[in-house]
Amino acid sequence: MKERDFYALVAYDGGNQGFRHEIVRKSTAELPPGDVLIQVKYSSLNYKDALSASGNHGVTKHYPHTPGIDAAGRVVFSTNPTWQAGDEVLCTGYDLGMNTAGGFGQCIRVPASWVVRKPRGLSLLESMRIGTAGFTAAQCLLHLEQHGLGPDKGPILVTGATGGVGTVALMLLHKLGYQIIAVTGKQAEHSALLAMGVTEVLDRHEFLADSEKQLLPARWAGAIDTLGGKPLSVAVKGAAFDGVVTCCGNAASGDLPLTVYPFILRGIHLIGVYSANCPMAKRLHIWDKLAGEWKLDLTPICRTVQLGDLGAAIDAMLAGQSKGRWVVDLEEAV
Ligand SMILES: NC(=O)c1ccc[n+]([C@@H]2O[C@H](COP(=O)([O-])OP(=O)(O)OC[C@H]3O[C@@H](n4cnc5c(N)ncnc54)[C@H](OP(=O)(O)O)[C@@H]3O)[C@@H](O)[C@H]2O)c1
Repeated sequence: MKERDFYALVAYDGGNQGFRHEIVRKSTAELPPGDVLIQVKYSSLNYKDALSASGNHGVTKHYPHTPGIDAAGRVVFSTNPTWQAGDEVLCTGYDLGMNTAGGFGQCIRVPASWVVRKPRGLSLLESMRIGTAGFTAAQCLLHLEQHGLGPDKGPILVTGATGGVGTVALMLLHKLGYQIIAVTGKQAEHSALLAMGVTEVLDRHEFLADSEKQLLPARWAGAIDTLGGKPLSVAVKGAAFDGVVTCCGNAASGDLPLTVYPFILRGIHLIGVYSANCPMAKRLHIWDKLAGEWKLDLTPICRTVQLGDLGAAIDAMLAGQSKGRWVVDLEEAV
């Protein structure tokens, strides 16, 4: 295979000067070994990418590095017979964008086992509007339903409601007929959340007011928490008997201040969600749902940026000011 040049966003460790990122011309010869070379058409920005781009060693250990845990594009070359040049494919999670050069580059090379055929009901662009954030929201909802919840069981709480995971979660819940209680730190977004079908919006400070108590009045049948810390503890303490709470994020904190009482007095189920290593059969099932009966029009909550505009989006995300989803269009790199 003839090597080719491409553009990528590269994050550098500037020591005392902090981390910086630049758009750099690279060669496919610099990509890690792997079975499948993919020309990336679209990626998306997730919280983990913002952490990787800003030097979080829990996500990325070695720099210079190209973040981007999501990629959608066409196979250029494959040593594995499952994949042929021209196939439209997705790659989300695994080690992509963590310590493997990721989707903020116009080419990636990955193991064949990480690659998913683009679902028939989605375009490459639509798949990256969903991206890891939307996939994770769907995974959380699947867990709630597998543990017996449904629209008739009571409202579902969603924290970090204006973020990527939160927004897709509440759109899925609304599509399926659930009542939704949304928690946000953004006062200005209350009416927009109500317009999206949310039943009740709680201000984050108000929501956390009684967070020191061991148990709270039961108000929701289940919760999709994206924040960790006190918000997750309130989600657990305020869930009704046999309630189901999914935990996927740490945007507020990695701590979890809880006692055993919600578990031994109300039988609450706390379910951890990690999309990156989601087994392939479950991964394909979730993508099928997102391309079929759970298909959403995410256009209104997505902004499309090019590599050169990603810096501002990353800063907004790290400051907790991001809203909805960011798609990265790699056709025009800069
Ligand atoms: N486990 C997995 O597989 C998986 C997959 C995807 C994402 N995640 C995690 O899920 C979380 C959300 O990801 P995302 O892509 O939705 O991020 P995002 O788009 O940046 O959204 C996070 C939202 O959380 C709220 N928030 C931010 N900082 C906060 C703080 N310090 N305290 C309280 N609330 C805060 C904000 O919403 P409001 O202003 O509306 O409150 C913000 O919009 C992240 O921790 C991410 O790492 C995990």
